[in-house]
Amino acid sequence: MPRHYAIVPAAGSGARFGAQMPKQYLPIAGKPLIYHTLSALCRCERIDRVWVVLSPDDEVWRKHDWTSLGPKLETVFCGGATRAESVANGLLAAETAAADDDWMLVHDAARPCLTQAMLAALCDELADDAVGGILAVPVADTLKRADAGQRVAATEPRDGLWQAQTPQMFRYGVLLRALAEHPGVTDEAGAIEAAGLKPRLVQADTTNLKVTYPTDLRLAELILQGRGE
Ligand code: CTP
Ligand code: MG
Repeated sequence: MPRHYAIVPAAGSGARFGAQMPKQYLPIAGKPLIYHTLSALCRCERIDRVWVVLSPDDEVWRKHDWTSLGPKLETVFCGGATRAESVANGLLAAETAAADDDWMLVHDAARPCLTQAMLAALCDELADDAVGGILAVPVADTLKRADAGQRVAATEPRDGLWQAQTPQMFRYGVLLRALAEHPGVTDEAGAIEAAGLKPRLVQADTTNLKVTYPTDLRLAELILQGRGE
């Protein structure tokens, strides 16, 4: 049986958020944001190990006590200049543990509201899949294309459009090679697509949001508090 592992890219600076420290360390529901993210993965029984990929310049990680996350957590200071580079470096760090056919779940540090139900849906729906896939949500709003003067140039059909989230789950060997060959992508699925394969879309919901701007942090906190976390 293939095993499940997770990689959490956490080497970003949070430029769009604009806080004093990288957004993954901002306090939310009583803990650093990334604590909630890592806790969801470490609590998941089917995930054997979790690599968190930090920037070589990270000065915040060591200031916190992470021991309550348990023994699955591995810390590596090998983040790169882009998210794809951080993930690729994390995959290399996992090389001695992971076999080609093992599943690798890649999950943004900045998505703290991942649930056990979402993880179970992803793992269950992809268990027999030849390619793997991603959590995603069908686009709900009407989409407008803007012109240079910020006026509506066109209404774009939203049929068949989904918003990609994480975790994104692919076989270790396939993902390692796809990212090495297509380093310019913004998510793992992009590399898999560039390699000629078609990732499956597994439906999640909008509570699995990515914290990008300050309003997202407040929303994520309300979601966590609403669950009693
Ligand atoms: N990430 C990373 N290495 C990078 C850039 C991003 O590991 N060189 C991680 C971030 O820490 C985050 C995830 O990838 O958990 C998603 O990226 P994003 O939301 O864009 O975070 P940042 O890059 O930190 O934010 P910004 O783009 O606003 O600077
Ligand atoms: Mg970024």
